[in-house]
Amino acid sequence: MSFIRFNKLVKEYNGIPAVKEIDLEIKKGEFVTFLGPSGCGKTTTLRCLSGLETPENGEIWVGDKCLFSKKESINLPAGNRGLGLVFQNYALWPHMTVEQNIAFGLRKMKVSDAVKKEKILNVLNAMDLQKYSSRYPHELSGGQQQRVALARMVVNEPGILLFDEPLSNLDAKLRMKLRSELKRLHRTLGATSIYVTHDQIEALALSDKIVVMKEGTIQQIGTPYEVYHEPVNIFVADFMGNPETNLLKGKIRSADRIKSFVFDDDPDSIVDLAGSVEGIAEGNEITVNARPEDIIINKPDGRGSFFVYTIQPMGSEMMIHLKSEKGGVDIIAKGPEDEYLAIRPEQKVSLTFKRGNIFDRLTGELKCSFKG
Ligand SMILES: Nc1ncnc2c1ncn2[C@@H]1O[C@H](COP(=O)(O)OP(=O)(O)O)[C@@H](O)[C@H]1O
Ligand SMILES: [Mg+2]
Repeated sequence: MSFIRFNKLVKEYNGIPAVKEIDLEIKKGEFVTFLGPSGCGKTTTLRCLSGLETPENGEIWVGDKCLFSKKESINLPAGNRGLGLVFQNYALWPHMTVEQNIAFGLRKMKVSDAVKKEKILNVLNAMDLQKYSSRYPHELSGGQQQRVALARMVVNEPGILLFDEPLSNLDAKLRMKLRSELKRLHRTLGATSIYVTHDQIEALALSDKIVVMKEGTIQQIGTPYEVYHEPVNIFVADFMGNPETNLLKGKIRSADRIKSFVFDDDPDSIVDLAGSVEGIAEGNEITVNARPEDIIINKPDGRGSFFVYTIQPMGSEMMIHLKSEKGGVDIIAKGPEDEYLAIRPEQKVSLTFKRGNIFDRLTGELKCSFKG
């Protein structure tokens, strides 16, 4: 059963579409992320839901309540939609203490002062802000200020939480910590959350469901596992993954039962593909997606059509840059340090892709996934 529904949502700015006929259903209690590059329409979609923007067309529903319908001329004011919203730039009242800022969020709630007091205390505890309750915003770090902004949103207990890149102005360490707190908050409140980010790591870490967007359209809706391992097209494959994934042009060659991949940019170089590759004819123009962690560097035996270009230790892992013999193909492999102990620069090696996806190069669409 869907809870939030977008039907053919269209939003234009000066006649230029920012969101193009989006259809989306979100279940109650889900944590859903809008993920995509800057300018793809994430914020616009969220603002349409919250009532800060008026769409050109389509419908938005929450449960059996219609928030917006072009056809029915319905457009509920933002204040009546019962949604909480936190932006990238937290706007706290500078002349109010932490406690007063949070209390401000409760001003419209028709409950006794004692109940309000208790709610504020609970949220101060949940966000680990007890110590700071009487401080002013300028006496807090960026992370603490953002926690206050989050506290002010959740104290109202909105059934739906909307986040627009709430962590992107914070340093990496703090981002990690608040990410964990957000996930807990979502669970304890049992609220439905929509979270906008361009950071795929954040999306993978937080979401039940990821909506990958590009140029005002939805490319894929799936679990973190699905968008990472079964991307529906080259765009999604490319957008996911850090370090960048390997997208390689070539063709399939079948010898015995083993499927090999021949590179367009260096036809003398081949790799083996693990698992079964079905439905791809030899000679089909394809692009293979092989993530750095899915590339096996076989034990060096003096043969193989790749060589080790550089080795970069990264703490517990190593990143190996490989080049095809004639230099036309670059591949990045990544793995635990001990897996690569025998690897030396300039060594000739053969490679196996233990997992990956095959895309039709013309349409960019997924043809099959393989896994050894
Ligand atoms: N107020 C506005 N006026 C004109 N164009 C806008 C406005 N807001 C957003 N846009 C345009 O709409 C598109 C989508 O923007 P946005 O939803 O903010 O992207 P995202 O949040 O994914 O980075 C972009 O091309 C952006 O330039
Ligand atoms: Mg945005």
